[in-house]
Amino acid sequence: MINGKPHSVEAPDTMPLLWALRDLLDFNGTKYGCGKGLCGACTVHVNGEAVRSCVTPISSLQNKEITTIEGADGNTLLKTVQEAWYDEDVPQCGYCQSGQIMNAAAFLSKNKNPDDDAINTAMNGNLCRCGTYVRVRRAIKKAAE
Ligand code: FES
Repeated sequence: MINGKPHSVEAPDTMPLLWALRDLLDFNGTKYGCGKGLCGACTVHVNGEAVRSCVTPISSLQNKEITTIEGADGNTLLKTVQEAWYDEDVPQCGYCQSGQIMNAAAFLSKNKNPDDDAINTAMNGNLCRCGTYVRVRRAIKKAAE
């Protein structure tokens, strides 16, 4: 299930979810950064948990609920986070931002009133070459209101 709808792909078991999303299913909001689980650009949700899709083989995902940034309209928390991102003008080049938003939403589902330290710890692995970290923190706090 991706964003509430069933999908199937013909692909090797070891294919990373990121490849299936972008190349086979046209969910291009999820971005390729490092391809090694290091940057967070490819973050999606699997059963509500933030997961790096570049290192998640599709064979591990049967009967799992996958949410991508394209699923924001059907997901209240994700939509709230996305709107806070708009309100706080977070993106600069924008490339890493869908991964940032997905990680932030998974974090806020567990910590509804986070302080700066908790946000920094949770978002530590989502890299942004433009350095939008201050605005990311502000948007997470706004989304938590
Ligand atoms: Fe997956 Fe960097 S592209 S963590």
